[in-house]
Amino acid sequence: MANVNRQYDNRLLDPDKIKANLKTKRIGGKILVYDSTSSTNDIAAEYAKNRQNDGLVIFTEEQTAGRGRAGNKWLSGRAQSILCSIVLTENKLNAELLSLTCAVAVAEAIGRTGRGLAKIKWPNDIMLNGKKVAGILLESRSLPISKSEIGNRKSKIYVAGIGINCHQKKESFTDELQQIATSIDAESHSISDRVLLAKRLLSSMDHWLEVAANNSEKVIERWRELSIQLSHRVTLVFNGAKFAGHCIGIDPEKGLILRLDTGGIRMFDAAHASIAK
Ligand code: BTN
Repeated sequence: MANVNRQYDNRLLDPDKIKANLKTKRIGGKILVYDSTSSTNDIAAEYAKNRQNDGLVIFTEEQTAGRGRAGNKWLSGRAQSILCSIVLTENKLNAELLSLTCAVAVAEAIGRTGRGLAKIKWPNDIMLNGKKVAGILLESRSLPISKSEIGNRKSKIYVAGIGINCHQKKESFTDELQQIATSIDAESHSISDRVLLAKRLLSSMDHWLEVAANNSEKVIERWRELSIQLSHRVTLVFNGAKFAGHCIGIDPEKGLILRLDTGGIRMFDAAHASIAK
């Protein structure tokens, strides 16, 4: 199997190569690469119990229980993708803004591979030529702020799990998935460099997290440019009910803003709403 994979990518993910010349302030100070794990989000959640692990990144070549949003599985052949989770223990951003920020950062990292403009399908699908090339699973939990405050205040820690399809061929996807999913290589008819993409991803996350902390409007502005839904009709499922309308904007705290067909304007948060199939 390893030889087959090397045909597509002769650079397996190596922490030293990812770290080489990585000029990030917060993200990727510590990078771990697993050969195989259940889910990088699970490993990252363990590290996230220690606040000092802010910015730590877990990569793996393979997941045996990869998770997607809404209880879906996230499947990827060995050494075919970027599968990683970033530990974020020091958070000033609310979940909605963090979600937008991750989407902008991942889309920009993929866009910088020069394989086309990666766009964002709210909340966290990254699209190349209209098909999903990457997804983000943001998971949170509360941690006591300090020993003296245990039982009183808690602050949220996040794990940002990112899956980017790189070397999958069109035929790697089931017939059904071929209509909606793709990989960087399938769109560019060439072989992408996962180490380079990993570096770009960490740099982009580092950059956009800093931008979001200092000037969230800049994230919103970039999100608007990259969104495939803004100014278009959207149908959402929220708490089991469908809502159709025209997407008129994004709120950094409350989510996607729709002018509903039934009248009125309503906001939908990423944690509870998804785009109807
Ligand atoms: C989605 O679009 O449904 C989100 C997919 C997120 C997949 C990544 S792969 C690395 C990390 N570990 C997981 O189990 N899931 C995320």
